[in-house]
Amino acid sequence: QPVTMLVANEKPNIKILMVSMALQGHINPTLNFAKRLISKGIHVTIATTEDGGNRMLKHTDKISSDSGIKLEFFSDGLSVDFDRSDTKTFLNTIQEKGPQNLSNLITNLTKNETFSCAIVNPFVPWAIDVVAEHEIPCALLWIQASTLYSIYYRYFKNNDLFPKLDVPNEKVQLPGLPVLEVKDLPSLLLPSSPLHYKELMAYFIKALDKVEWVLGASFLEIEEEIVKSMDSLTPIYPIGPLVSPFLLGEKETSNVSVDMWNAEDACIGWLDNKPNSSVIYISFGSLVVLSQTQMNNIVTALKNSNKNFLWVVKPANNGGYETKDAAYELPKEFLKETEGRGLVVKWCAQEKVLMHPAVACFLSHCGWNSTLETLITGVPVICWPSWLDQPTNAMLIENVFRNGVKVNYGEDGVASVKEIERCIREVMEGPNAGEIKKRAMEIKDSARKALEEDGSSSNNFNQFISELIVKNN
Ligand code: UDX
Repeated sequence: QPVTMLVANEKPNIKILMVSMALQGHINPTLNFAKRLISKGIHVTIATTEDGGNRMLKHTDKISSDSGIKLEFFSDGLSVDFDRSDTKTFLNTIQEKGPQNLSNLITNLTKNETFSCAIVNPFVPWAIDVVAEHEIPCALLWIQASTLYSIYYRYFKNNDLFPKLDVPNEKVQLPGLPVLEVKDLPSLLLPSSPLHYKELMAYFIKALDKVEWVLGASFLEIEEEIVKSMDSLTPIYPIGPLVSPFLLGEKETSNVSVDMWNAEDACIGWLDNKPNSSVIYISFGSLVVLSQTQMNNIVTALKNSNKNFLWVVKPANNGGYETKDAAYELPKEFLKETEGRGLVVKWCAQEKVLMHPAVACFLSHCGWNSTLETLITGVPVICWPSWLDQPTNAMLIENVFRNGVKVNYGEDGVASVKEIERCIREVMEGPNAGEIKKRAMEIKDSARKALEEDGSSSNNFNQFISELIVKNN
């Protein structure tokens, strides 16, 4: 029986448990996937860490009871007021205490219900062991580019492919990718990165043996060679772009969303009054905070460019992960000088912003959620990567997807004013701007096709559900 028929005809009595850390960049794809599952009549419980969960829920309506998604919490082992920017203590403690706490939660939940499957996020790799102990079949939701999955897998399984990683311009040749430089690799593989991040990924790769399905947030067409290169090793099945139903023009199956800060809706009205393709949207996601020098250079480049801009500058005390000279405020005279053509907000409904016709391009840190959101909306990108997967995503955008340009940093690790101006020109008016926009629109089209009936992502998704149904019977 064809897979799609099976899915359409059956009313699956399936309950799924999803496990994720309550970071914005992790919970968003988890929720988006949960929404897709409940649209098929599947019941979803999301288990997440209570600290982050509480922080996010303060800024949102409580998960509504009719949403079909249940939210459950477990402790990461630290007190509420512990400063989690001490990521070493945080990750070590959650790895030590999290498994028992999650296990207790599962014991409680399974008194009343049976889970057909658990879908675990790779950044809580120990959850794979916990669900295995409870004999729940496990799927992994890989929430970054499939390229990153391949890089981590190859790195931890076969170190030989990698040169010495302390030379930033050393060449790296990996299957399915253009020749990379060491600086294009995810930062946590580099010797400069604290060991605990690397250990987390090593744990995850080791735990993969207990995972029955690896589902990717990306889509096949943009990373085809990489995805195929993993088929003989440990296959990944992309089911994305995993973005909110809103970006796909679908009716929301649930009004659930969790935000770390309140989105300032006024920016949409502000965009309404701007000409089409005239605004640079600037945001660095939920974790990255710019240094004062970086911020000053963007300020000067924006002054000189004379373009409209909408800039998200997060408030201080955002829950950690800040650099010492982090900047939280823009100079007052700049705000005055650019009044009318510039708007600064603390947080926005990014999806609505990217869908807005006034937005010309996105100056982005290239977190994978933001990247997927640009791919599905056809918005060209100016890449300003910082750490984690972001340097690799920026390389993909500039060299593989070709829907954007990457700022080049100087020796001091900072992009100069001239370099920022060059990038703005390149995506907005230079000779390559048309080509970049054309690529962005082509990708938008193929991203949407991947999710249509018989598209690559729908087929992978339906295959997963039908295998669950078979397993369940
Ligand atoms: C983190 C990592 O930094 C990133 O590299 C990794 O790929 C995922 O986890 P984050 O830095 O928060 O994520 O970036 P990103 O993945 O882009 O996720 C941010 C999310 O917040 C996006 O879905 C975006 O739409 C949303 N957002 C951002 C808002 O809703 N409003 C804003 O003002 C800014």
